Amino acid sequence: MGTVPQSDTRLCPAAGGPHKAGAECLLAEELTLQYPDIEVRWVAADLGTADGVKKTVQAAQELNGRDTAQRILIINNAGSLGDITKPFVDFTDPPEVDRYFTFNVSSALCLTSSLLKVFQGRAGLERLVVNVSSLAALQPFKSWTLYCTGKAARDMMFRVLAKEETDVRVLNYAPGPMNSAMQDQVQSHTADLEVRHHFIEMKKRGELLDCHVSARKMLDILEKDAFRSGEHVDFFD
Ligand SMILES: NC(=O)c1ccc[n+]([C@@H]2O[C@H](COP(=O)([O-])OP(=O)(O)OC[C@H]3O[C@@H](n4cnc5c(N)ncnc54)[C@H](OP(=O)(O)O)[C@@H]3O)[C@@H](O)[C@H]2O)c1
Repeated sequence: MGTVPQSDTRLCPAAGGPHKAGAECLLAEELTLQYPDIEVRWVAADLGTADGVKKTVQAAQELNGRDTAQRILIINNAGSLGDITKPFVDFTDPPEVDRYFTFNVSSALCLTSSLLKVFQGRAGLERLVVNVSSLAALQPFKSWTLYCTGKAARDMMFRVLAKEETDVRVLNYAPGPMNSAMQDQVQSHTADLEVRHHFIEMKKRGELLDCHVSARKMLDILEKDAFRSGEHVDFFD
């Protein structure tokens, strides 16, 4: 979660995953170097737990100057694939399924709603919310029962937000197939061989996107403001 860097912007809390070495930490360091005026607060929190969500919200509450921020950008990027080694019919254990949705759906809802409350609408404050979505929100992939369901649920959740809070700009952004740890897991663990090989071949052909390229595209979309609030926009659109 952070504000888009501007000369007069000072707030930028970044919520990282539980492993303390994530991209968010690097982002926090990079932002501090590039924009020394920005106050960066990096929080390691397990968003699969209520405590992790609370800790992240608290960090936002503690930021100096939150009453003077001009633009708030909340990016819901954290996510996981869940168990992709088995088909639909093998998901018979409700607690396993609940754990997946607690992290991938519930935390995105409760974190976003809490942060919107911290940064209540006031004159001149622009609020933007991004849900990092996926093609899997729209299209079923064999072996990805949890992932596809979670991404579809998140898209709808943020469409409701867009309807309710008309002064909040909401973007469901599908970043395209990116070269990342998640992509490695797709290629090594997807049970369905057709799906698995599709992504292995994409990697061989050099078709996976660099995360920075996709992130840049997302920022361009936000800066141009050329989307309907709640719309699902794909990297390739
Ligand atoms: N890669 C793709 O091809 C692709 C395609 C479409 C959409 N996406 C979406 O893009 C987003 C980023 O994915 P990625 O490819 O960068 O995957 P990734 O390499 O697996 O990164 C996942 C991110 O989620 C964080 N995370 C994992 N478990 C967490 C937890 N319990 N609490 C808090 N944070 C947690 C990780 O933090 P740590 O670094 O601390 O582990 C990391 O920042 C996801 O929402 C994914 O669904 C990816």
